[in-house]
Amino acid sequence: MSTQNKDTRPEKVTTQTVVDMKRSGEKISMLTAYDYTMAGIVDAAGVDVILVGDSASNVMAGFDTTVPMTLDHMIYHTSCVVRGVERALVIADLPFMSYQVTTKEALISAGRMMKEAGAHAVKLEGGESITSTIKRIVDAGIPVMGHLGLTPQSIYKFGTYKVRAKDEAEANQLLKDAKKLEEAGVFSIVLEKIPTSLAKQVTESVSVPTIGIGAGSYCDGQVLVIHDMLGLNKDFSPRFLRRYADWHTAMSDAVGEYIKDVKTGDFPNEDEQYN
Ligand code: KIV
Repeated sequence: MSTQNKDTRPEKVTTQTVVDMKRSGEKISMLTAYDYTMAGIVDAAGVDVILVGDSASNVMAGFDTTVPMTLDHMIYHTSCVVRGVERALVIADLPFMSYQVTTKEALISAGRMMKEAGAHAVKLEGGESITSTIKRIVDAGIPVMGHLGLTPQSIYKFGTYKVRAKDEAEANQLLKDAKKLEEAGVFSIVLEKIPTSLAKQVTESVSVPTIGIGAGSYCDGQVLVIHDMLGLNKDFSPRFLRRYADWHTAMSDAVGEYIKDVKTGDFPNEDEQYN
């Protein structure tokens, strides 16, 4: 039994909360997390939404793309995050090929994410072509976040991580996709790496909140990968990224100090050992 008084617990963010935030004009803050400790820090700092992104493939597992991530990997990361969170809404990415083959398989994947990992919602990449799948998942009582623009699971189709929907045909399709996702019942849509003017148009034409990454300031909220915004990854510096810390240097300096202290015999000192 929890020892915490129910009245002192923070009010949980729900999918309805983020929809209401769009209506009231309050911007939505979202960050990724993949483990218990980071999730606890991010949650306690007050972020509204935590995304257990399949970017775990890049920043946790060291793959070049998100394609290798499996449903079991994502369930593991999501369950770690859920255990660290008290307030934020936790959304988990369904990984590549866990929802594209059949609607039945997609529903089973989404169900496992909710039951085994304790996610509060799932995110799927794609537009019009996956709306019947999304509708089925939503009808089963599982909230879905959409993801349009640069959808990294399709990297081998795109061939590049450059800005999407710069031409009129792709921009029109994206607008149509956003409307279709809304009709299918998503509670929110991530817009990744698209022109600001298009993100503004989408944001104004759907009633559900848009969360941008490289999609400009008109989105209803913003998301960044935690490793990128903390400056853990020195080699990744796209235009859209703002670094809020330099953890790469801080960690590397701390490890250097530790090595020096071990080599010189300075660590452990008298106070750091048992008599
Ligand atoms: O996997 C991820 O981290 C994401 C965000 C970049 C939106 O999908």
